[in-house]
Amino acid sequence: MPHGPVIVVFGITGDLSKRKLLPALYHLLRQGELPEDTKVVGLSRRPLSAEDLLSTVELCVLEQDKVCDPVGLARVRASLQTHQLDPENAADYQSLKKLLDSYDGNGHRERLFYMSVPAAAYAPIIQHFAAVGLNGPQSRLLLEKPFGYDVASAQELVNLVNQDFQESQIYRIDHYLAKETAQNLLAFRMHNPIFSPLWSASHIQRVHITANETIGIEGRVAFYEQTGALRDLIQSHLMQLLSITLMDLPSDMSSEAIHLSKQHFMEQLKPADLRKATRGQYSGYRDEVNNPHSTIETYARIHLEHSAERWQGTDIILETGKGLAEKTTEITIEFKNPHERRRNNLTFHIQPNEGIGLDLVVKEPGFANHMHHTSLDFRYADTFKDMPHVDAYERVLMDAVRGDQSLFASDREVLATWEVLQPILDAWQGSETDLKPYELGSDGPS
Ligand code: BG6
Repeated sequence: MPHGPVIVVFGITGDLSKRKLLPALYHLLRQGELPEDTKVVGLSRRPLSAEDLLSTVELCVLEQDKVCDPVGLARVRASLQTHQLDPENAADYQSLKKLLDSYDGNGHRERLFYMSVPAAAYAPIIQHFAAVGLNGPQSRLLLEKPFGYDVASAQELVNLVNQDFQESQIYRIDHYLAKETAQNLLAFRMHNPIFSPLWSASHIQRVHITANETIGIEGRVAFYEQTGALRDLIQSHLMQLLSITLMDLPSDMSSEAIHLSKQHFMEQLKPADLRKATRGQYSGYRDEVNNPHSTIETYARIHLEHSAERWQGTDIILETGKGLAEKTTEITIEFKNPHERRRNNLTFHIQPNEGIGLDLVVKEPGFANHMHHTSLDFRYADTFKDMPHVDAYERVLMDAVRGDQSLFASDREVLATWEVLQPILDAWQGSETDLKPYELGSDGPS
């Protein structure tokens, strides 16, 4: 029986860790998905006891699940260790290495370093890793998005990380790819060949990907003021969803083949057209971030075009916003239908109420030739009632433990997406032109 991995978390007290990582680790340990001898090391600048961290785990789980199983919590307790580390201090990395080596006493363990810290903080950490030899073959680096700020900074980060780690050790997280319905997208395309001949601009008028959120920025002021909707969701989540929707199907389901298809697709997207881009900011945002001149967008909508012959003429729309009326993430494929105003839309409901729907037109019963719009609807909740739900972060962690990079973004993909967005990033930077206000709870800027 191989030994469980060691999962080292930078930023264990941060927001992401509390909302997603700690509950995911609790679930995986409780359900026995991670072996009992798994080690979780929480790194913090300030002294933090394992007991304090355990109380945080309990609170986070209670908030999410409403119950916290004592047996599950005991498993977390048995795995959990805290370690104080100042990212700038070389000696702290030596002591971290000593701790990790001590776990290897009776056998080799995979080491996952989960960087739940802003990309701007990576440089000293990675350099110290290499200096003390924490970048060996048993180490995997899990990096949170956004990977960079623009083309130049993303390239710098790629260079920095690639200096000391192999691409096979680097896991650039995009948790949307780990959502059940997003994974199903590729499986759907592969296993329902009736759609294959229709998958081109000859039949598809428009592809519209929406990720609307009801929540605002949830207190992440510093992060959001440097990010905005375009960088936060479009550059990563929506571009990834787009590529698995439209890319050429990979030759097989290997991680290499999937990455190659995605990269090929992304590299052929044309630079985004500024004239067709819209941005908005919800009312009250400037007070919330205490910056009366903030030009950061909380809503963005862009149109893209693809240069491959297969997609010439298909309009691609990516849209996201915070503080909107409804939380919905969906991908709508609008098929051309010369006879009807309403198209045969195929919709992938990524969340909530996950499923797939196909809009059809049928004749109403009777003598008149009246048409009726209806749909074929598949919902996970109906078809797979008793199957367990796997959260995206649980999937991210398990795939990284298993060494499967399929659901992570490669360096080339990340660079290609920044290239596409750069013209809009440049134009929107520090300028207020066309920044449209919208009310919280509305459908976004008019
Ligand atoms: C994160 C963004 O990547 O995704 C957040 O930084 C956003 O701003 C979140 O709220 C949405 O994730 P989910 O899984 O709740 O749709």
